[in-house]
Amino acid sequence: MLKHPLPRLDRDEEMRRHLLPFCRLQPGEIWRDPLGLHRVGCLDASSPKDVLSLCGNRRGVLAIHDPPYNFIGFQSQQVEEFVQWCRRVVDVTEELLRDDSSLYLWSGADQKQGFAPLPELMLMMRETGFQSRSLITMRNQRGYGTQRNWMSVRQELLYYIKGSPPFHPQYTDIPKKVKGYYKEVSGQLTENTDRGRSDTLRAGNVWIDVQQVFYRMEENVNGCYAQKPLQAISRIIAASSEPGDDVLDFFAHAGTTLLAAEMAGRRCLTMDIDPVYCEITIRRLEHYRRTGRTGWQNSNPFARELGQSEA
Ligand SMILES: C[S@@+](CC[C@H](N)C(=O)[O-])C[C@H]1O[C@@H](n2cnc3c(N)ncnc32)[C@H](O)[C@@H]1O
Repeated sequence: MLKHPLPRLDRDEEMRRHLLPFCRLQPGEIWRDPLGLHRVGCLDASSPKDVLSLCGNRRGVLAIHDPPYNFIGFQSQQVEEFVQWCRRVVDVTEELLRDDSSLYLWSGADQKQGFAPLPELMLMMRETGFQSRSLITMRNQRGYGTQRNWMSVRQELLYYIKGSPPFHPQYTDIPKKVKGYYKEVSGQLTENTDRGRSDTLRAGNVWIDVQQVFYRMEENVNGCYAQKPLQAISRIIAASSEPGDDVLDFFAHAGTTLLAAEMAGRRCLTMDIDPVYCEITIRRLEHYRRTGRTGWQNSNPFARELGQSEA
């Protein structure tokens, strides 16, 4: 079995010096998909000029942003700064989204620090042109704090809309087992299972069925420290966009939104400020188109350059 783990590529200076010459994008540059579908920019999400250069005259119907909330220590002033910074990202996103569109924002909630930055982020969002729609919680499998507190396993996902965007209910693979919620419909007593449109449970706003990414999974991308599960992003895309639509993600990292968009027949406009994560994002798409694989599991995106065998 191949095993080529990589360190966190945002922190390991030596590895970064080694890999940067293999990264196609310099800051300010944009990669355009030869098939004419997607774009990846090495750009700053909080700069309207950068975001406009990525999007050109294309407008999204859906934005899925996962800002880097772990980079601050969550002292109150830093939370304030972080949220103001997010506000700039949200404002430019609003400009780049169509009249009827959806915005999903991932957020952490530090239970040792008054759940920052979640409440601040929610209050900030009230001041924007977006309307709150749902607060989704995704259950992680790995948690922390099991002995002296409730194990922390949650990931928050804020869902906002502008206008009246499409929404397609999504279903889990979990069978509906509990019968007996009766309701009279046209004079007939019906059971909940008769009325449902599926034999499986609808994905409501608590997602317990999404497997967190870990190294044994095909979609794992070694070197990434904050990779979201493809299943979660695919669910959002299926619920809140139509085939052919443009999907925005200004924090590409492992390129999960780009890959999910490709798989669902959508077009993705994405960026990351770090050339290494831009390169990983482009390579993940190319790797998928070449092999049908969604990640590298026990290898990594730079195996060739590092003299390791490729998966
Ligand atoms: C939490 S990760 C996103 C994870 C992504 N959703 C995934 O599934 O792989 C945040 C990313 O934002 C990038 N980033 C940080 N500041 C940025 C900025 N100003 N503009 C664009 N990207 C930025 C980081 O390099 C990091 O890759």
